[in-house]
Amino acid sequence: MEYTTLNTGAKMPYLGLGVFQLADLAECERVVDEALAVGYRLIDTAQGYGNERAVGKAIRAAGLPRAELFVTTKVWVANNSYEGAKASIGRSLERLGLDYLDLLLIHHPFSDYYGAYRALQEAFHAGTLRAIGVSNFYPDHLADLVAFNEVVPAVNQVETHVFCQQRAAKAQMEALGVQIEAWAPFAEGRDGFFGNPTLAAVGAKYAKTPAQVALRFLIQSGVVVIPKTAHPARLAENFAVFDFALDADDLAAISALDTGQRLLMNHYDPATVQRFKRLVEERKDNPEIN
Ligand SMILES: NC(=O)c1ccc[n+]([C@@H]2O[C@H](COP(=O)([O-])OP(=O)(O)OC[C@H]3O[C@@H](n4cnc5c(N)ncnc54)[C@H](OP(=O)(O)O)[C@@H]3O)[C@@H](O)[C@H]2O)c1
Repeated sequence: MEYTTLNTGAKMPYLGLGVFQLADLAECERVVDEALAVGYRLIDTAQGYGNERAVGKAIRAAGLPRAELFVTTKVWVANNSYEGAKASIGRSLERLGLDYLDLLLIHHPFSDYYGAYRALQEAFHAGTLRAIGVSNFYPDHLADLVAFNEVVPAVNQVETHVFCQQRAAKAQMEALGVQIEAWAPFAEGRDGFFGNPTLAAVGAKYAKTPAQVALRFLIQSGVVVIPKTAHPARLAENFAVFDFALDADDLAAISALDTGQRLLMNHYDPATVQRFKRLVEERKDNPEIN
């Protein structure tokens, strides 16, 4: 495993498992259990995924030293307020069965995320949160949050993959000391991702798959990745990216795949805000989320 050092001084693995869309709790528990056996130590969940309890069960069953693990969760939009976020930290810890989190992110820059960030800063100072950060904060939102708050976010998790390399946003994050973390490092398979001829040609040089080349490219560029898979063989495949290195020609060829466009979500689109407003309403009685 390779690690990045956050602005808190803590080490964060460059590769972890994302558990979005593992809503079946038994399945989520099985996948996390298998991932920990493969060697994954970073698990990325969220209040909104409704599976924190399953992640916690698998972590406890593995019996690994707590210090080896890096557990991230995210504040659901409904909890974006000072009081809401503060209370939700306790509920996430209870569901995960942990007494601290390695990283808590504000999931989306909607509703009262300034209030939520104040609660995160308090819990960071108290030591309950070892690092705090944000997700889906585009450069203007990130600049604003950093300018008017005391604690610089340790991480910003944004859609990042070879088709959307986030060059300008990444440069801003590097200048601010914010670690970039890629969600959907495979673009959720869109646009022929796993059959991409450039990724396949580069992979052929090293006997690696397009998925492995894509992850290696991001890690080598300083991006933390959290690919999701429910399949044991793919968990192992996605983890086997530390025994080869891309050369300058490979990096140039893959850099050229960047379209500069997000494929999956646009937080500037008013329709996205409405979508999340509907989700907040639909999920309001779910005790595993709120
Ligand atoms: N902050 C946010 O707003 C946000 C948004 C989205 C995601 N995330 C986080 O980022 C994580 C990853 O993103 P994601 O789940 O959206 O998408 P992703 O990791 O880009 O892609 C997951 C898809 O790729 C498939 N896959 C995985 N490994 C593969 C391989 N080696 N070969 C072929 N197919 C493979 C998976 O299918 P199988 O499962 O069938 O293998 C699944 O359909 C999430 O789990 C979540 O933790 C965060």
